[in-house]
Amino acid sequence: MSSFNRSVSFKQRAANIGSPRFSRKTWVSRLFRALIAIGSLVSFLLAIGCGYVYVLPNLTHAFHDHDEFGFSNSNGSTDSCDVFDGNWVLDYSYPLYNASECPFVEQGFNCLLNGREDEDYLKWRWKPKNCDIPRVNVQRVLEALRNKRVVFVGDSMSRTQWESLICLLMTGVEDKESVYEVNGNMITKQIRFLGVRFSSFNFTIEFYRSVFLVQHNWAPKNVPKRVRSTLKLDKLDDISKEWIDSDVLIFNSGQWWVPGKLFGTGCYFQVGKSVKLGMSIATAFRIVLQTWASWVDSKINPEKTRVFFRTFEPSHWRNLTLRECNVTKLPLSEAEGKDFSPFSETVFEVVNNMIVPVTVVHITPMSAFRSDAHVGTWSDRPSLSDCSHWCLPGLPDIWNEIVILYLLGNYEAASE
Ligand SMILES: *[C@@H]1O[C@H](CO)[C@@H](O)[C@H](O)[C@H]1NC(C)=O
Ligand SMILES: *[C@@H]1O[C@H](CO)[C@@H](O)[C@H](O)[C@H]1NC(C)=O
Ligand SMILES: *[C@@H]1O[C@H](CO)[C@@H](O)[C@H](O)[C@H]1NC(C)=O
Ligand SMILES: *[C@@H]1O[C@H](CO)[C@@H](O)[C@H](O)[C@H]1NC(C)=O
Ligand SMILES: *[C@@H]1O[C@H](CO)[C@@H](O)[C@H](O)[C@H]1NC(C)=O
Repeated sequence: MSSFNRSVSFKQRAANIGSPRFSRKTWVSRLFRALIAIGSLVSFLLAIGCGYVYVLPNLTHAFHDHDEFGFSNSNGSTDSCDVFDGNWVLDYSYPLYNASECPFVEQGFNCLLNGREDEDYLKWRWKPKNCDIPRVNVQRVLEALRNKRVVFVGDSMSRTQWESLICLLMTGVEDKESVYEVNGNMITKQIRFLGVRFSSFNFTIEFYRSVFLVQHNWAPKNVPKRVRSTLKLDKLDDISKEWIDSDVLIFNSGQWWVPGKLFGTGCYFQVGKSVKLGMSIATAFRIVLQTWASWVDSKINPEKTRVFFRTFEPSHWRNLTLRECNVTKLPLSEAEGKDFSPFSETVFEVVNNMIVPVTVVHITPMSAFRSDAHVGTWSDRPSLSDCSHWCLPGLPDIWNEIVILYLLGNYEAASE
């Protein structure tokens, strides 16, 4: 029994199951498909702005009631164990799934399939200093998610994590055909919505592409010519209404907040009617997070929805301008400063002032060491090296292990 068990609070979260979401599904999904079609067209048209043209190179098992599954409200981080403070240890029982047997890993992330030959990068487990992350009990997670809706919102890093969670859980599903994308869509880089349904368990794991979390529109009239589009920093993305009625909501944002994807494409910031030409990216990011925080505080029912914000994913470029990088065979021994990100710091600052509890999944420091975990040239575009995105299986699986730890508490650890 690790010290972790004793210190985690096992107060049961009132799992509020049984809203009639699926009965509304048919008309909602028809309307929604139409919205997506319009949305896709708009994002296509906006392709010239905000870097759309520039795709990155690429419940606790109730201790007192073992028959009922619900979410735990453990935050994983207690006085005696901070799950984010630890190190990588070799564990040959990893990886957790075979990407070639999971239809939801996009080819660009399946490094083994794309020719990567070294395999050590698949074998690392995250070991917090004062506790262990229990091995994921897939059957228990599947049961805990029954009748629920898990929603990922963010950029391609969020999509990777979405793919990872689906594949992880599919290892526990015998009839693979019973798991399918609700609209029969293929995974593509620009797609605004993907929803994978685990029909035997009546839950969905959804992904909404919203790289900046806020609305992106054509520039208003009477602005300088270089302004082609604007991000409305005070208006959460218009697909945000789809995120409300979920049970688990996992956000991220960060990779698109760079000059090249913003000003470089004529995309500037707007607050109200006013275009803010001189505003820095750091300031804009903070305003967006405050917009996001007010939205969460006013729209999300914390009794129903568990909210997470996953922090910034470090990249490992040798020279980003030249798109040069070397994927290493082993993790770095030093974080080389990549364990700090101003974006992650802003997430903490904003979340600390919110009413609805939000769990910050602070993957920045642990991921800083993983220069071995990127897709490199083993993506769907082998001519370009990519030290931003990650192989699957791989590092995003570990992010999900931590999310699962927060959702389920550490029942397994307690029984070890
Ligand atoms: C986690 O929960 C414990 C006790 O429930 C609390 O003392 C601690 O501050 C929380 N940590 C975070 C990061 O929220
Ligand atoms: C993954 O599955 C594929 C197809 O079933 C198989 O060919 C391959 O050897 C497996 N890879 C590993 C690493 O087990
Ligand atoms: C599936 O889940 C929804 C809630 O998400 C619930 O309303 C519905 O009754 C469930 N269906 C079945 C067959 O359990
Ligand atoms: C990357 O390469 C460019 C072009 O050679 C050079 O100007 C720049 O200084 C390099 N950046 C770094 C961080 O080395
Ligand atoms: C890193 O990659 C570059 C090409 O991108 C190559 O020239 C160089 O030798 C590599 N360095 C190491 C240490 O492998």
